[in-house]
Amino acid sequence: MNKEQFTKQLIDWYQSHHRALPWRETHDPYKIWLSEIILQQTRVAQGLPYYQKFVAAFPTLQALAQADEQKVLRLWQGLGYYSRARNLHACAKMIVRDFNGRFPDNYAALTKLPGVGPYTAAAIASFAFRERVAVVDGNVFRVLARIFGIEVNIASPEGKKYFTAKANELIDDTRPDLFNQAIMEFGAIHCTPVAPQCNDCIFSKTCAANLHSLQKLLPVKEKKLTVRKRYFYYVSIRYKNKWLMKKREGKDIWHGLYDFFLVESKSKKNWRTAIAKHPEFKNAKRLGKFKHVLTHQQLFATFIDVELKDEKEFVSLAKKFALMPFTQKQVDHLPKPVLISKYFESCLQA
Ligand code: ADE
Repeated sequence: MNKEQFTKQLIDWYQSHHRALPWRETHDPYKIWLSEIILQQTRVAQGLPYYQKFVAAFPTLQALAQADEQKVLRLWQGLGYYSRARNLHACAKMIVRDFNGRFPDNYAALTKLPGVGPYTAAAIASFAFRERVAVVDGNVFRVLARIFGIEVNIASPEGKKYFTAKANELIDDTRPDLFNQAIMEFGAIHCTPVAPQCNDCIFSKTCAANLHSLQKLLPVKEKKLTVRKRYFYYVSIRYKNKWLMKKREGKDIWHGLYDFFLVESKSKKNWRTAIAKHPEFKNAKRLGKFKHVLTHQQLFATFIDVELKDEKEFVSLAKKFALMPFTQKQVDHLPKPVLISKYFESCLQA
């Protein structure tokens, strides 16, 4: 199947099958941009009422730029990923300030806007300005991989390059906007991930996946899982039946859960070396070692017991390391990582 046949069939199909969606009725780059930001990580059915609310509240880029951030976030409520809303607002202000309120009108300039990656820039450039630049999203990967029997891994940088080149080679010269809408729509409602309608398909006689029953195998998506190894040296500081613990803060794993004083290392160490910079941990004993596996991390935890005989010392260490004392019963009720619960189970049994 040559390029002209493919493109013509696809656009013909689109013209008689597509869903009527309001952002398809306009060439206003502001409204197209708004729809694309809303539809990032959001389904059309969920995004549509938000698009309508935003267009009603902020009919122009200027209106959005002048709006109160509270109001923007309030309208966004329920869509999630709130950084998208903040970016949207910041981007509107930037265009008003730096571009005199005129939306950038080409792919290269669009990619420089915050929150606008290659896909969104291609969508706006083609839908609003008819620039001949192909959109490449999950739908495009799937449609091209199946019809042309492409087995390149879509999760790899080479895969992205390959499919981008292929889509840019196929895109219609005079109707790039329709081509882009069509290929995405074909993937969204016809050549779907799980149950493509191959029995009733314009490409049934030419599609490689249909001819060779490869629908379930294409596109190829192989994520290389990078697993980070972390070495945790936990110091459980104890006085009678009380432990010193702390609530985890910040962006790391286990935010809000309680654990012990922690020395972390990127490499495996002898536990005494790991805590050597804390001479206050006297009579330290190694109590146990655990391996804990998370999706992207392997934790190698060593638990070190520091049992104090002097309450003053206990209080002073608590202060020094911003830890809080908890009785065994209180510890039972604290939210803890499974690793910490396992440690308690093993040390209380012993
Ligand atoms: N998802 C993202 N962009 C879209 C568009 N323009 N039409 C339909 N679904 C979409």
